[in-house]
Amino acid sequence: MNGKRLLLTGCNGQLGSTFSALYKDSQLAGRYEFSSVDVEQVDFKNKESILSVLSLNNPSIIVNCGAYTSVDKAEEEPDAAFKINDLATTIIANWSKENGSRLLHISTDFVFDGAKNSPYEPSDETNPLGVYGNTKLGGERNIRNLLPKDGLILRTSWLYSEFGQNFVKTMLALMSKREEIGIVNDQIGSPTSTHSLVKILFKIIENENASGIYHWCDGAAISWYDFAVEIQKQGLRSGLLEKKIPVKPIPAAGYSTLAERPTYSVLNCEATLIEFGVPKVDWKKELNYVITAIATAK
Ligand SMILES: NC(=O)c1ccc[n+]([C@@H]2O[C@H](COP(=O)([O-])OP(=O)(O)OC[C@H]3O[C@@H](n4cnc5c(N)ncnc54)[C@H](OP(=O)(O)O)[C@@H]3O)[C@@H](O)[C@H]2O)c1
Repeated sequence: MNGKRLLLTGCNGQLGSTFSALYKDSQLAGRYEFSSVDVEQVDFKNKESILSVLSLNNPSIIVNCGAYTSVDKAEEEPDAAFKINDLATTIIANWSKENGSRLLHISTDFVFDGAKNSPYEPSDETNPLGVYGNTKLGGERNIRNLLPKDGLILRTSWLYSEFGQNFVKTMLALMSKREEIGIVNDQIGSPTSTHSLVKILFKIIENENASGIYHWCDGAAISWYDFAVEIQKQGLRSGLLEKKIPVKPIPAAGYSTLAERPTYSVLNCEATLIEFGVPKVDWKKELNYVITAIATAK
């Protein structure tokens, strides 16, 4: 194993769970000693807790999937969101710098304000609309400042998987309970399966010299309404849903949330496709894979 150690944080979250599940059968499995931690082993709000887990595991590479991800709740808990998404990255990046470790970090489309109407480039100006996006941007800046060569930030959007809670699972639950639902049709983004994201993370791990900011999404440019319609179609086909209910398009203005969301947040992934030599994915096939996994687990 060359004495190399990989530490995954946030291992019980939806991305972390997918990473652990796919890692076992990946080409990386034999190359690293693998450890994974979540909030039970490390509290990102506590410097001593972070430093103790890092020195105990002494990783050569850290895949940081731990984060404060409740976009609306962050508006009411800015201090917790700041500590977990911003301050903790300074501590981790400083440790990485002192110990020659590489840090792969996940960030979000919510660092953008959504005023653009063509896919966001990694170099585009950021301007988060809420606390979550602000704290994630703070995390990005810390890593870029402290680890210009050994830090890599991968921004992604609208994540879903068979693990944890996400839009796909919420839609399936609502569609089997309600007679009709209204879904926002004027926010445009790109749903991304944790499976496609983990495969890119594996490529990034293999490419030991890669650093900087990259984007990854499953390539659609659709509204939450469009996504819900496709979820219903595949839910019916898989047997997860028994009957079709009307899905009505509604404006975001008619669905009030604590945090403002970008109107448009599609990410341009060209640089990632080229740098890591990966093909584009088909977002409907990615959804089918997750819907099938949910149906099989029932
Ligand atoms: N979800 C999305 O739509 C989306 C979109 C773009 C980018 N991202 C980014 O993608 C990454 C993975 O997201 P995800 O959807 O997998 O999130 P997730 O399911 O919420 O997983 C995050 C993990 O971090 C843990 N965590 C929370 N507070 C912690 C603390 N104080 N100390 C240590 N660990 C803590 C969580 O534990 P608890 O569950 O116990 O809190 C959870 O297991 C995050 O960086 C997120 O910002 C997500």
